[in-house]
Amino acid sequence: MIPFPLPNHRHAADLSSSLPCPSSHASLTSQQMAKRVLLCPPAYFDVVDQKNPYMSKDSRVDRALAQRQWQGLCSALDEAGFHVETITPAPGLEDMVFAANQVFVGFQEGVGKFIVPSRMVHASRQREVPYYVDWFRQRGYKIVEVDLGVEHIEGHGDLLWHPDWSRIYAGYGFRSTQAGVEKFREAMSNLGIPVVPLRLVDPYCYHLDTCFCPLNEEGVLVYPGAYAPESFASLRGYWKRVHELTADEAHRFMGNGIVANGRYLTPYLTPHLEGILREEGLAPVIVDTSEFEKSGGSLFCMKAFLP
Ligand code: ARG
Repeated sequence: MIPFPLPNHRHAADLSSSLPCPSSHASLTSQQMAKRVLLCPPAYFDVVDQKNPYMSKDSRVDRALAQRQWQGLCSALDEAGFHVETITPAPGLEDMVFAANQVFVGFQEGVGKFIVPSRMVHASRQREVPYYVDWFRQRGYKIVEVDLGVEHIEGHGDLLWHPDWSRIYAGYGFRSTQAGVEKFREAMSNLGIPVVPLRLVDPYCYHLDTCFCPLNEEGVLVYPGAYAPESFASLRGYWKRVHELTADEAHRFMGNGIVANGRYLTPYLTPHLEGILREEGLAPVIVDTSEFEKSGGSLFCMKAFLP
């Protein structure tokens, strides 16, 4: 996990006020519309067990540094024109900072704003879910309960919207289960939203958000090695431009970035990724997440978009 600094990359601070932050659009994509994000301060963040291959019991988290890095993410989002909301962290919930996982957040014409609560694989993470469900309930989001039984879905770790809200891509195999995704697919089909299941095969890409990042309605960043061949073939069909990350880029969370009003927030940058972003009209902004990577997460994992 060594940063790859480039002479001409731009840090969050360099970009303040240099890019316009459009405030209204004739047709809104999910990325344009979601100008609000939910984050959880890392007050109790720690690595205490091994939920994924990045985690090691010997890891020492520098909590003060984690706090500064989290603040850096808040600033980068703020400078990109996002309004950052927060949820109160709970003691003993060391992964609660990963705000992408506890619920799936949706919006659908005729339904309005809704969430689907996750059923997380790990007991400590499952205890985070009610805090998030309450947060959304108090703000008027509809709760769409999917009867998952013993199956699992893990929110936006595995469930990602196409930027035009036309479908949801659903990874399974490590955290979300195939049958969990199938139950989610049935529930979404009742709301008129198609779901594309994708089988994941690389343990270092245990969540879809580590190997799949929509850049706009036509272009996507993917790491092909993370998918079963038939899943990768099906995914390709939905995109005009499929940009392939290397294993090294994906495993350093470069596909776990945040698209924010013409910027791409990323923990690292290679010349290859920089070229892709240039082609897609996105300006890279490096936001350090080294402490959170010890837990197997980076930028995308640390927020939920709020429609
Ligand atoms: N330690 C956390 C876990 O293993 C990291 C979650 C990362 N989140 C994500 N959306 N990929 O559950």
